[in-house]
Amino acid sequence: VGTVLLALGVGYLCGTIAFGLILTKLFGLGDLRSIGSGNIGATNVLRTGNKKVAALTLLGDLLKATVPVVLFWRFGALAAAAAGLGAFLGHLFPVWLGFRGGKGVATYIGVLLGFAPWGVLVFALVWLGAAKIWRYSSLAALLATVVVPFGYLMMGDLRAAELSALLTILVYWKHAPNIRRLRAGTEGRIGAKG
Ligand code: G3P
Repeated sequence: VGTVLLALGVGYLCGTIAFGLILTKLFGLGDLRSIGSGNIGATNVLRTGNKKVAALTLLGDLLKATVPVVLFWRFGALAAAAAGLGAFLGHLFPVWLGFRGGKGVATYIGVLLGFAPWGVLVFALVWLGAAKIWRYSSLAALLATVVVPFGYLMMGDLRAAELSALLTILVYWKHAPNIRRLRAGTEGRIGAKG
């Protein structure tokens, strides 16, 4: 139990590093909170027009989950899952930002990468396909995160299916404003300046 709690805590702290905010500040791109959706993730960083910083945000928000998951694997799958869940919660509810964090898509991919990597392939295929067709980052993520748990289930990886399903529910919850905008036809397209 001690190790699992430690994994949760270490994961959480890693997850609270808001790469989007840090990098946009570092590169002088303005206040992310007042751009586009106001979210701190890579999709919104892209709305500043700087693809490089958006890519770095994606990478940072992704690896901050992968690293703790991989580090805690030596203590077993439960500890690794706890580290991943912790990082994800840290990104969604960072104590330093008054618990107002991001929507978790990059961090979701990071958890998959550390816990059961081939799920990243499933995620990427669905995300890229949906993004190419509709050009909405949120819609692509909503579709990809719903397919991933079923993918794991079909491959017989129950642990990864359960973990990813839990994260998917939180992704949906955090995307409530996006779902509203998608239904109203007012969601911003990928890369459109905000
Ligand atoms: O990765 C988050 C994405 O799904 C939505 O981001 O900024 O359009 O709300 P945003």
